[in-house]
Amino acid sequence: MACIGEIDLGTKAPPPLLAANMVTLTIDGEAVTVPEGTSVMRAAAIMGTTIPKLCASDNLDAFGSCRLCLVEVEGRGGYPASCTTPVMPGMVVKTQTPKLKQLRRGVMELYISDHPLDCLTCPANGDCELQDMAGAVGLRDVRYGYQGENHLEQAKDTSNPYFDFDPTKCIVCSRCVRACSEVQGTFALTIDGRGFGSKIAASQNEDFLSSECVSCGACVQACPTSTLQEKKVAEIGTPDRAVVTTCAYCGVGCTFRAELRGEELVRMVPWKDGKANRGHSCVKGRFAWGYAQHKERILNPMIRESIDQPWREVTWEQAIQHTASEFKRIQAKYGTRSVGGITSSRCTNEETFLVQKLIRQGFGNNNVDTCARVCHSPTGYGLKTTFGTSAGTQDFDSVQYSDVIFVIGANPTDGHPVFASRMKQRLRQGAKLIVADPRRTDIVRSPHIEAQHHLALRPGTNVALLTAMAHVIVTEGLADEEYIRTRCDWDEFQDWAAFVADPKRSPEAVEQLLGVPASELRAAARLFATGGNGAIYYGLGVTEHSQGSSTVMAIANFAMVTGNVGRPGVGVNPLRGQNNVQGACDMGSFPHELSGYRHVSDAETRALFDEAWNTTIDDEPGLRIPNMLDAAVDGVFKGLFVQGEDILQSDPDTKHVSAGLAAMECVVVQDLFLNETANYAHVFLPGSTFLEKDGTFTNAERRIQRVRRVMEPLNGYADWEIVQLVANAMGLGWTYAHPSEIMDEIAALTPSFKRVSYAALEEHGSLQWPATDATPAGTPTMHMEAFVRGKGKFVVTDYVPTDERTGPRFPLLLTTGRILSHYNVGAQTRRTENVAWHPEDVLEIHPHDADNRGLKSGDWVRLASRAGETTLRAKVTDRVAPGVVYTTFHHPDTQANVVTTDYSDWATNCPEYKVTAVQVSPSNGPTKWQEEYDELSRRARRIEAVAAE
Ligand code: SF4
Ligand code: SF4
Ligand code: SF4
Ligand code: FES
Repeated sequence: MACIGEIDLGTKAPPPLLAANMVTLTIDGEAVTVPEGTSVMRAAAIMGTTIPKLCASDNLDAFGSCRLCLVEVEGRGGYPASCTTPVMPGMVVKTQTPKLKQLRRGVMELYISDHPLDCLTCPANGDCELQDMAGAVGLRDVRYGYQGENHLEQAKDTSNPYFDFDPTKCIVCSRCVRACSEVQGTFALTIDGRGFGSKIAASQNEDFLSSECVSCGACVQACPTSTLQEKKVAEIGTPDRAVVTTCAYCGVGCTFRAELRGEELVRMVPWKDGKANRGHSCVKGRFAWGYAQHKERILNPMIRESIDQPWREVTWEQAIQHTASEFKRIQAKYGTRSVGGITSSRCTNEETFLVQKLIRQGFGNNNVDTCARVCHSPTGYGLKTTFGTSAGTQDFDSVQYSDVIFVIGANPTDGHPVFASRMKQRLRQGAKLIVADPRRTDIVRSPHIEAQHHLALRPGTNVALLTAMAHVIVTEGLADEEYIRTRCDWDEFQDWAAFVADPKRSPEAVEQLLGVPASELRAAARLFATGGNGAIYYGLGVTEHSQGSSTVMAIANFAMVTGNVGRPGVGVNPLRGQNNVQGACDMGSFPHELSGYRHVSDAETRALFDEAWNTTIDDEPGLRIPNMLDAAVDGVFKGLFVQGEDILQSDPDTKHVSAGLAAMECVVVQDLFLNETANYAHVFLPGSTFLEKDGTFTNAERRIQRVRRVMEPLNGYADWEIVQLVANAMGLGWTYAHPSEIMDEIAALTPSFKRVSYAALEEHGSLQWPATDATPAGTPTMHMEAFVRGKGKFVVTDYVPTDERTGPRFPLLLTTGRILSHYNVGAQTRRTENVAWHPEDVLEIHPHDADNRGLKSGDWVRLASRAGETTLRAKVTDRVAPGVVYTTFHHPDTQANVVTTDYSDWATNCPEYKVTAVQVSPSNGPTKWQEEYDELSRRARRIEAVAAE
């Protein structure tokens, strides 16, 4: 696929080590100087000379199969392929001679004689490298005719919902095969057969949908012909313009060129210059954007007096006035602190900043929280305490320099797929891998990758595991004493070292508890301490526990004791879930912090905001989400503004959430769809998608990236404009004309954002905060010279078992997670073709536990806990250990959170999603509660349908 406006230099840039030396050569009589290790093809492209090519691309290793890129090199016999020939000092190259033209024409004749001659009706017409090359070599005739043996009768594979495979057009250049293995790391494609019989095969000659293909689209992007072709291109036509923007799904933060034809979005092409994704993407970002125009989107505001009444469409003016007057009425009756709001980790930084400003300036309290409460709030607490700032320490490129990678409580292949591909590239180069996870996730074993140690611990024992590994480091003399003495508080280290060295914390003492052999724990700890650069990546399997904050601090301790913070290749890296969860936290979405993680009790910080906003910031921290719901049940919290969150589906203990929402007098939901929370709302304000607005997202690397408007908002307003309308209806007098002005205000009020502006983002492409006067281009690696807090702080983290225990009634432990094709509660991805891969949530159960209950794959099962019960189908698999069951939470019909309890992290209230004692038993179908719930949902959908009409 030839991207509009993007130049393909043909081969990769040489590795940085080689690139230190420069080489000068002559190409077509012109001198060019390039880094050592550059190919002749790339050197020519850099000076503006295009050598014809088909099998080469600058994101793949050179292959040298098509023989179109031949050149002449003075003093060298034959015609070497320029893609596989490295530059040499003094080399003299010719790219255009009569002989080369003749040879290239001959090659093209062979390709074209076995190619359908339907260019005019081909969907790739005008966007096909084969067509371009035929022109470039001046092909006018095919001497062999078209009647010989060919491949023109082969059947098209249309099984993938997003792209087709038409083998009649294949030139067997292998770009797709190499993209799948080198870039994506799935190895789903091979060249089957030999010589003339060679053909591309998915898995064992299966169709694409049934094969191991994960639909990342790298092969489609790599294909120079129309063999692998996006269905949308065939339907709409080739694009004619592009807008660079950022994916709105996960915390990797892939940037894309949104390519349009007229006003219609045709395809999303990963941007080669994107520093987070380096030109790659997953199935969600590249293909699953159809929800933006889904017929179920609500485009007109609605209100109702009570939640048992039908919705009534109103004008924007009426909806905004009603919202403002309801909040004012409630505050007048029940007090200033009787209302609050929830910011969205899906919305832009600017929108999030405005929502918390609305609450602090307009509502006059700190009752603001965000969905990070239920995912990464322990990261904020743990890393701030130990290192001094609430964010990951590295950029994604850092993994290229890691020697040992420790993945704990994260499933990057499903949750952060593009980063997983980067990690796999490094693992295939020889880095070692340790995985701590109760489940055998894909990263444990995948093509050409096998973890050295899979520590399949019992859910809820992370702290004991990390302490036992630290015990090995300290007692075997593996601690990096020089690093600790220079960089950390030595006294605190000694206290901590004495604590972990206690024999009762040794691997042998806890192996029964963990279910992991002591020898395995010792070996893993030794590998991390002695294997070179050690990097730790973690996810919600660390944070969503009653000891989430302790585990984050135990990870920080482990990184410091081994000297692994403060340079490329090492560090502590939380893999953030939602696209802008880092940004939502940065923007002051927590009830105790203003932007940049400054506590509301800090008078100096408050004074800054008081002056800028002409207000008095409350010096008392506000309510967290669970406390708002408790207060609502107690009758003292009466109004809630929820932007872009579905707390009924995403928060624990669904019954408690619904009771809290039902007790409020005014719930305002701003979202794209009538979500589950909207069942309890009195005002619905239609939201806008990431394609419809300007702003910024901040990814898991602290990287601030532009979101650019690709199309007009279908509802008439971007979300930031709607918040401004509400604020002004409350009398706040905001006058933002563009999100860039909001960012200017953020920068003025937040030291770590001081040098962030839209102009700076244009200049640098993206910025990793802190971007200050000292670091105007941002900070890829944190804590280089010293920790942000000065000395790194070792914190004693005693293992405290969760109160959630298994017993005779609930003998199994449930843990939850997500899969590649869906996102969070599935509101977007369920409204795309991604349902082809995962139409429902299933319960993974070990064969031993399934046998005990007489269950087989596909059976309905009742999943019950102390909190509630639900029904879903079983999948019998040894990916989970005996005693552990696992499910996803992407489908509202399953309502996995009905069974999760209200236990939470001691420091942050982050719910303990990852540990619930459950029983699993055969069932005939959905439960009574679930039927009632489904009926509610059905009712909501009926109303939605009426509203849509
Ligand atoms: S499908 Fe495309 S990329 Fe793959 S071998 Fe055929 S022409 Fe090349
Ligand atoms: S879509 Fe991705 S996973 Fe599937 S075959 Fe192509 S490169 Fe491989
Ligand atoms: S979902 Fe995540 S990994 Fe996939 S394209 Fe979007 S940002 Fe990238
Ligand atoms: S592009 Fe060099 S051999 Fe194909």
